[in-house]
Amino acid sequence: MTKQINSFEEYQSEYKKSVKDPEKFWAEQAETFTWQKKWKKVLDWNFKEPKVKWFQGAKLNITENCLDRHLETRGDQVALLWEANNPKEKARSYTYKELHEAVCRYANVLKKNGAKKGDRICLYMPMLPELGIAVLACARIGAIHSVVFAGFSATALADRINDAKCNIVLTADAIRRGKKEIPAKAVVDEALQTCPSVKKVIVTNCAGIAVSWVPGRDKWLFEELKKVSAKCPAEQMDAEDPLFVLYTSGSTGKPKGVVHTCGGYMVYAEYSFKNVFQYKKGDVYWCTADIGWITGHSYIIYGPLLAGATTMMFEGVPTYPDAGRFWNVVDKHKVNQFYTAPTAIRALMAKGLKYVKPYKLSTLKVLGTVGEPINEEAWNWYDEHIGKGKIPIVDTWWQTETGGIMISALGDKGPRKATYAGYPLPGIQPVLLDPKGKVIKENEKEGLLAIKYPWPSMIRTTYGDHERCRMVYFSAFKNHYFTGDGARRDKDGMYRIIGRVDDVINVSGHRMGTAEVENAINQNEEVVESAVVGYPHPIKGQGIYAYVITNGKIKDEQKLRESIVKTVSKEIGKIAKPEKIQFVPGLPKTRSGKIMRRILRKIAEGNPGQLGDVSTLLDPSVVEHIKKGYLK
Ligand code: PRX
Repeated sequence: MTKQINSFEEYQSEYKKSVKDPEKFWAEQAETFTWQKKWKKVLDWNFKEPKVKWFQGAKLNITENCLDRHLETRGDQVALLWEANNPKEKARSYTYKELHEAVCRYANVLKKNGAKKGDRICLYMPMLPELGIAVLACARIGAIHSVVFAGFSATALADRINDAKCNIVLTADAIRRGKKEIPAKAVVDEALQTCPSVKKVIVTNCAGIAVSWVPGRDKWLFEELKKVSAKCPAEQMDAEDPLFVLYTSGSTGKPKGVVHTCGGYMVYAEYSFKNVFQYKKGDVYWCTADIGWITGHSYIIYGPLLAGATTMMFEGVPTYPDAGRFWNVVDKHKVNQFYTAPTAIRALMAKGLKYVKPYKLSTLKVLGTVGEPINEEAWNWYDEHIGKGKIPIVDTWWQTETGGIMISALGDKGPRKATYAGYPLPGIQPVLLDPKGKVIKENEKEGLLAIKYPWPSMIRTTYGDHERCRMVYFSAFKNHYFTGDGARRDKDGMYRIIGRVDDVINVSGHRMGTAEVENAINQNEEVVESAVVGYPHPIKGQGIYAYVITNGKIKDEQKLRESIVKTVSKEIGKIAKPEKIQFVPGLPKTRSGKIMRRILRKIAEGNPGQLGDVSTLLDPSVVEHIKKGYLK
């Protein structure tokens, strides 16, 4: 097992070591894993292409490290604990032995259905144990998993399947969320009308609803499982072979497939998990994220299982059957580490303390947040009412592209400050840059957050388009990975993340590209053009404010708004639905045709008094129109 840091002094000395000789530092951590063959070289890199190769020449299978190596030491310990959407349904658990067997069986089902090393397999599934098992089953046979969050629409799903040319889709009959049952298989069926690469669909039966069926293509998981053995040797993978693709939004174009590889991702997922959450043997750890996002990949599945932890998955939503569900589950399963998103904290805070009071919450040792900046009020509420003022809050800053937590406190080891993510983890070398790319050396300054040295779990490429990876992350500033975030460093060198500085909106911790949402809105027949910005939202962090130009006189504004929301839900999914839609006669554009989003953002934020210089606009008068129609 990698080293667990036990004090702030130890953190400081580990950090120094990691910067002085990163290769030695990471080689020492990597030594603790099971490798089928050792590496020849620890790191080979340049950020120009970019080329980043960790543990070159090494062979491994990540599932041997998540499962097999624990069988002797903790085979009967619970590996995966699962709490159903419906509190009346029995929780399920898998020991390491049972999980190992379940993964091997599922892997054999994949093989029987034609899956091979290097194939891409799409997972569009609810938060069932079968989702976690399926992820590991792909890794077991060396297939590249592409998990698509099951809130995306059929169109968005089809785009992702086609981009990666997946040959198998894993899904379930339905998704149960609170009182709702969403027909997942039907969404897959619709998507597959435009996905010629898909040959097989394997369906988990969870809700027992009627589904339509394509004979030959569609298979029930429970039937397939009967036909296979529980033995499946782990495929030998190169450290730099892709482990998974995960699609994420950026400021331009369609979502891109972020590629992570087997060796480096494994080392960093385990190391960051056990240090940030200060996990101790016997603890029950719960991350409330969905496996459809990077947080679920790294900190429900891989990090905890690599560390031999007991990790919990939750199928439901925080407000069902009432807003006390999280706290009920914490008490029920005696949760020790609890990791959630600020948006969930704010939503529960708004429901009042009566939903917290009935619960003891006495097992908690570490609280975490992720996904967006946490405001002071939410931080204080979390600290006072959930942590009872006694438990450390780790505010973990990272991204899909970073693969693991980059800046965060390490449990109770060291200083913490409300709304500050804190110090970088060992091996992570952040810098603040000014817009020209000059490094800001002083503290108590704001700047653009970049990373100047590779770390093991960093993005390797964007699927099928390496140039895009270079352009998006490595071209803004020479020799740096650019995060897209702005940050502030305080007098003690702690980092506070301010938010995105590009055209990315963070709605309830979900990343949306403005261009992506605009493209969706523009699919509506009555829309000519649109511009989308984020505005502060009390629960979601940011909401989507859309300015829309229509192609004729509007008969019924409300009806048209509903129709636009429907279009967006169809193109992307409900998560991208604009909160406010303002109809405008024109958009503020420069003479070269560029939309001045800065102006639209100020108006959407309710600050129309401070628009700055508008004289460079093609038609400054549109600004007055827009200001008048501002939707509060
Ligand atoms: O803006 C930052 C914000 O979320 C972005 C990354 O989003 P995604 O790739 O979807 O991954 C989310 C989960 C890791 C970042 O660029 N973000 C993430 N964590 C924090 C944060 N902003 C402030 N504080 C955080 N702790």
